[in-house]
Amino acid sequence: MKRILILLLTLLTCKVYAQTSNVQSPDGNITLTATLATDGTVSYELKYKNNEVIERSTLGFTLTEPKLTLNRFTLAGIDSSAHNQSWKPVWGEYSTIRDQHKQLRLRLKNKGEPNIQTNIIFRVFNEGVGIRYEFPDQEKLDHFVLGDENTEFNLTGDHKTFWIPGDYDTNEYKYNTTKLSEVDAGSGAMSQEIHAKTFFDKNAVQTPLMMKTSSGIYINIHEAALVNYPAMNLVVDKKSFTLTSHLVPDAVGNKAYLQTPAKTPWRTIIVSDRATEIIAANRMILNLNEPSIIKDPSFITPQKYVGIWWEMHVGKSSWDYAGGQVGSQQKSRVPHGATTANTKRYIDFAAKHGFKGVLVEGWNTGWEDWFGKWKEDVFDFVTPYPDYHVKELSRYGASKGVKIIMHHETSGAVTNYERWMDTAYKFMRNHGMNAVKSGYVGRIIPRGEHHDGQWMVRHYERVAQKTGTYRISVNMHESVRLTGLHRTYPNWIASEAARGNEFNAWSVGNPPEHETILPFTRLMGGPMDYTPGIFQIKLNVYDAAKKEQVHTTLAKQLALYITMYSPIQMAADLPENYEKHMDAFQFIKDVSVDWDDTKVLAAEPGDYLVIARKAKGKPSWFIGAITDEQKRTSSASLSFLDKGKDYVAIIYGDAADAHWEKNPQSYSFNKFIVNSTMTLKLAMAEGGGAAISIRPATANEMKALKKYQ
Ligand code: NOJ
Ligand code: CA
Repeated sequence: MKRILILLLTLLTCKVYAQTSNVQSPDGNITLTATLATDGTVSYELKYKNNEVIERSTLGFTLTEPKLTLNRFTLAGIDSSAHNQSWKPVWGEYSTIRDQHKQLRLRLKNKGEPNIQTNIIFRVFNEGVGIRYEFPDQEKLDHFVLGDENTEFNLTGDHKTFWIPGDYDTNEYKYNTTKLSEVDAGSGAMSQEIHAKTFFDKNAVQTPLMMKTSSGIYINIHEAALVNYPAMNLVVDKKSFTLTSHLVPDAVGNKAYLQTPAKTPWRTIIVSDRATEIIAANRMILNLNEPSIIKDPSFITPQKYVGIWWEMHVGKSSWDYAGGQVGSQQKSRVPHGATTANTKRYIDFAAKHGFKGVLVEGWNTGWEDWFGKWKEDVFDFVTPYPDYHVKELSRYGASKGVKIIMHHETSGAVTNYERWMDTAYKFMRNHGMNAVKSGYVGRIIPRGEHHDGQWMVRHYERVAQKTGTYRISVNMHESVRLTGLHRTYPNWIASEAARGNEFNAWSVGNPPEHETILPFTRLMGGPMDYTPGIFQIKLNVYDAAKKEQVHTTLAKQLALYITMYSPIQMAADLPENYEKHMDAFQFIKDVSVDWDDTKVLAAEPGDYLVIARKAKGKPSWFIGAITDEQKRTSSASLSFLDKGKDYVAIIYGDAADAHWEKNPQSYSFNKFIVNSTMTLKLAMAEGGGAAISIRPATANEMKALKKYQ
């Protein structure tokens, strides 16, 4: 009987699993198995250190034109290859990045007619895998329309998950931490403060999705190289723990319009038993993107900037020339922020403290009627308000070595922006500007399109290309979340595309854990313009009735310049608030924004993070440490410093009585001599952090300062 059973089982197995191929990561820790079953289904599995991470998960497509389901295939061939090369990003967290992977490509033909060729590529890195579909040039398929992509990620259990609701238009949500089976994107998770949001399924979540298994394996699912295709949401089956791709549709419900040869973005699965390695593995996403198309990137300048910005968010001034605050609850009228005189004040402050850029929002006509109307012709991007003198400010800035950063709020009217782009970029160049912050607040025009659909994905890419040809850098707010495309377009220098610091100014805000999750989620795809550096944390100084505050200590705001990687970083608070704390402000003046090396020293998503980075081309290092709402002490080994050398460490930390809510501005400031044998103990308050700058010590400092103990 037993023998018969075994025979039966073998027969069954042979029938289902016809053809399998294994690929191992270069270090042997990850094994990907691709299977073509005799029924024609193609699936993959993933093991990490012999633990099953992704169980048998099927791959395929539904086409609406021609009407066809691509889920049964025959094998036309297999190609395999290996790659091991290094490259240098224009800017970034590392001066050199190694791309080492093995690749397997299944060349498939679907069963039945028309007989279409589809390739599936698996790239296996030490950090994880990338999976991409290709539709090669072929006779029986030219133009086609996608109904959906059916990519599965079949997880092994009810993992702890850091998620935001699936949405076609926004990612400006707070994170939820629950088991997969408890995902409920419909209940209370929907943010009331977001204007343009399109929720579609209570079981849907967005990527980058961060998970942790009960045995301590960290899994991150996202995508790389999102080009000419909609963004991917994931729908959770709470019983089988299978995630299935759900692409953002267009105005008529289709997902993508493609023409052969075509390829999809890479679906990425990053896996490690150490949380620190997940953050470091954002390099895998970059490796899955194409090299830079910008031949002379000298116009792209990583920089810190200040701006006429926070003062509007806290209600001290307005974007609108007529005054008042459009689109907020603010009752009292406040003056226009972007005046010539106020801009000069910011230029003076920037010049005095070594900032190269001043962002000015609310400089152009249109703000009096920009919000919430789904109106097409809002801004023209070239007409200033009467109290803003563009020419004079460019001249004044240039005389002080400061450039104005342009602001293009499209208000979601993208057809209008497309018409104005050339004129607007020429206007910038004529006035000495080479950086723009753009924004997509509100519902998209063409009406019915979504922020994260194919049409908009193509728009963001057009903006990256066009600004590139005008030698302009662009920082997009409310864009689709990043997928490593800044490797290809290094002038697309950052995006917001998540819930930024601004939410602390006028909503329930971001809880203290928020910044400990973002590096594991949104930042996996690229830099975020989070706008840190708020020193005046309680906002009732602007209006006694104002209850909002930033959920942080002052020291944590400094640490964010390190933990929240971006080549552009705003010093977001008002000059007068910095002037009250010049000792702490010194850290923002000193900190670099472009790096030779990055070491993630300690991390746990939702709890804490400690990162050290070496300034590009300099011997100095900076460390940022942050915690959630719990106080804790983290340690930072300085073993990365050059052996046998002495350095000065300036430690900006939470004072003993600091607390994000009760006493957020209480910080300490200490200087010590340190070396590579030492380990710093960093005591962080509830909602707090620490920031450290380290540079070689001078002979005088060696005499004057104590050694760290
Ligand atoms: C939302 C952006 O995130 C913010 O930075 C900007 O100030 C407003 N839109 C107005 O454009
Ligand atoms: Ca925003």
